[in-house]
Amino acid sequence: MTTWTQDELKAQVGQAALQYVVPGELVGVGTGSTVNKFIDALASMKDRIPGAVSSSEASTARLQALGIPVFDCNAVGELAVYIDGADEIDAGGCMIKGGGAALTREKIVAAQSRRFVCIADESKLVAVLGRFPLPVEVIPMAAQRIAREFAVLGGTARLRLKDGQPLVTDNGQHILDVTGLQISNPLRFESEVNQWPGVVTVGVFAHQRASLCLLGTATGVRTMEFGD
Ligand code: 5RP
Repeated sequence: MTTWTQDELKAQVGQAALQYVVPGELVGVGTGSTVNKFIDALASMKDRIPGAVSSSEASTARLQALGIPVFDCNAVGELAVYIDGADEIDAGGCMIKGGGAALTREKIVAAQSRRFVCIADESKLVAVLGRFPLPVEVIPMAAQRIAREFAVLGGTARLRLKDGQPLVTDNGQHILDVTGLQISNPLRFESEVNQWPGVVTVGVFAHQRASLCLLGTATGVRTMEFGD
């Protein structure tokens, strides 16, 4: 058995995801280090697709640098497939996302896509979501009240900082990272937190769960199917 580094596992699933890109159709592209491997691999088939719809300024820059045209969500219809990483994924395809602060646009592009192909190394597979601090994008004036709501659920919310200042997302908002949660019913949890005033997006992806996951493991890429 070969021992792969996490970076090599990410490269393997990024490459494997190419089989789900539909020639002649736009592809939805997520954000993060695993997706960066996918974007690099996608360059090999850029002449067979019209382009991509991107979930972040960072992915847009990488796509464009490789000569892959990027289209606005509003300029296109439904996408055949959305390919993105995850911070955690459970056995039902529900995920925690937002470690890269791109959760809102990720959820938007995922919702516009028929299939969500998750690409992840095996460290991301968990029995119950919540070990990874849950990212929640919030309107800044509501951050403290939302933090108190999470405390009632047993969570501890911290404002994400960058260079000592609150991180500002691509949408001009802030991120709370919430520890201490055990999200055993992701669908219900996502629906509830979505109702809280000031929450832009909660990083539980249950309504937009994965259709399948390409999981990088020590014995190769494992495909987990969850249904469309
Ligand atoms: C960004 C995300 C990423 O998909 C998630 O953080 C995984 O990133 P990586 O592939 O770097 O581990 O949700 O907002």
